[in-house]
Amino acid sequence: MLLNKRIIIGICGGIASYKAVDLVSKLQQAGALVDVILTEHAEDFVRPLTFSTMSHRPVYSDLWEASGRAAETHIALAEEAELLAIVPATANTIAKLAYGIADNMLTAVALATKAPLVLAPAMYRDMYTHPATQANLALLRERGACIIEPEVGRLASGAVGPGRLPTTEVLQGAISKALGRNGDLAHRLVVVTAGGTHEPIDPVRYVGNRSSGKMGYAIATEARDRGADVILISGPVALEAPYGVELRTVETALQMRDAVQSAITGADVLVMSAAVADFRPDTPAAQKLKKGNGGGEAQGFDAHGGLTLHLVRNPDILGELAGIPGSSETSHGQITDKGERSKRLVRVGFAAETNDIVTNAQSKLQAKHLDLLVANDVGRRDSGFGVETNKVIIFHATGQIEDLPVMPKTGVAATIWDRIVPLLSTT
Ligand code: PMT
Repeated sequence: MLLNKRIIIGICGGIASYKAVDLVSKLQQAGALVDVILTEHAEDFVRPLTFSTMSHRPVYSDLWEASGRAAETHIALAEEAELLAIVPATANTIAKLAYGIADNMLTAVALATKAPLVLAPAMYRDMYTHPATQANLALLRERGACIIEPEVGRLASGAVGPGRLPTTEVLQGAISKALGRNGDLAHRLVVVTAGGTHEPIDPVRYVGNRSSGKMGYAIATEARDRGADVILISGPVALEAPYGVELRTVETALQMRDAVQSAITGADVLVMSAAVADFRPDTPAAQKLKKGNGGGEAQGFDAHGGLTLHLVRNPDILGELAGIPGSSETSHGQITDKGERSKRLVRVGFAAETNDIVTNAQSKLQAKHLDLLVANDVGRRDSGFGVETNKVIIFHATGQIEDLPVMPKTGVAATIWDRIVPLLSTT
């Protein structure tokens, strides 16, 4: 996504400017061509050499330097840029941008470029909440700028409130989202499920599985970077929500079913990468089960203190949607009684298999009427639950089978979207 992208990072004179060094480094590592422009006062906080060392490119600051080269350069930079992100953006620069003032290299480039603008305001709490700053941000947002909300927390002054620069991951996410706004999933609504479900035994114990959510979060992030509006329905995981993705958290399979059913109204694609528990304890105990003599037959304990759980079937979330036309059907969509669905829903399932992958995957593809089924070999150490890579075979409703090599989950996610895009409804 970031490979060979021409990105300008503008740095204003605020204490958070030192954090932009990490952002520039991460963007450069991801293959972006990063040009840094410092305002005069940004140089008081971080020296240009720090940024040029990280970006491996020249750094710009003085529009009026004697050779006149900077005056020429700023037009070229503005024309070639695919994105301008100002990190941190001070109240002063935000005001200049709102009013079209171009009195330094950064504001001149901002006025001259047609590239999308991303702003990460970071400043003292009361400057950020001041009506003037808020009005300027509203104006810039109205003109199409992406404003990354500052974090709330302890500021350099010691005060607590909004004004902290978000993490590098958030900043990078916002930049990737803005770069991908016209991608091949633009104007599409996609729903992705991730992680495993937890089925309660009692208030402190549950039946669960080893899904980390990494595969599903990579799928959601990739969709965002290709321009989609993304709803990510996640079981309990230890991952941060990707920037710009609507996260809906659930715990149990029943909650996931409700969340999926309400999210797919109007959606173009559903990708179920969650490891949904097929069974749940019949009646979870209202209080923590006590081992030994504390339990009793009524709670499932036997005479030797052993515990038997009675499990009942969970609904098959994907299976229940089998009646909705997918892209493999000839129909061009269906309108419900309530007029809710007028386009086809592309449905993609996953299968975690340890043996007989081809037979099991094909029967799931057919039983659940899926457009694609991604089978991962969870018997391998480099594939499936918890790890960063996956070894998958993609089964198409058309009968095509693609056996892919081991790849990072981000690469698997990109390949899955490459296969989904041609299936999207054009209605
Ligand atoms: O989260 P990670 O650590 O990155 O691991 C990723 C993963 C291994 C969990 C993921 O790649 C994966 O394989 N997810 C699906 C695992 C699974 O539950 O497979 P299944 O064969 O039980 O289910 C088949 C399909 O039906 C899946 O799309 C599943 O989401 C769906 N399903 C399953 C049960 C159920 N009650 N309702 C469902 O909709």
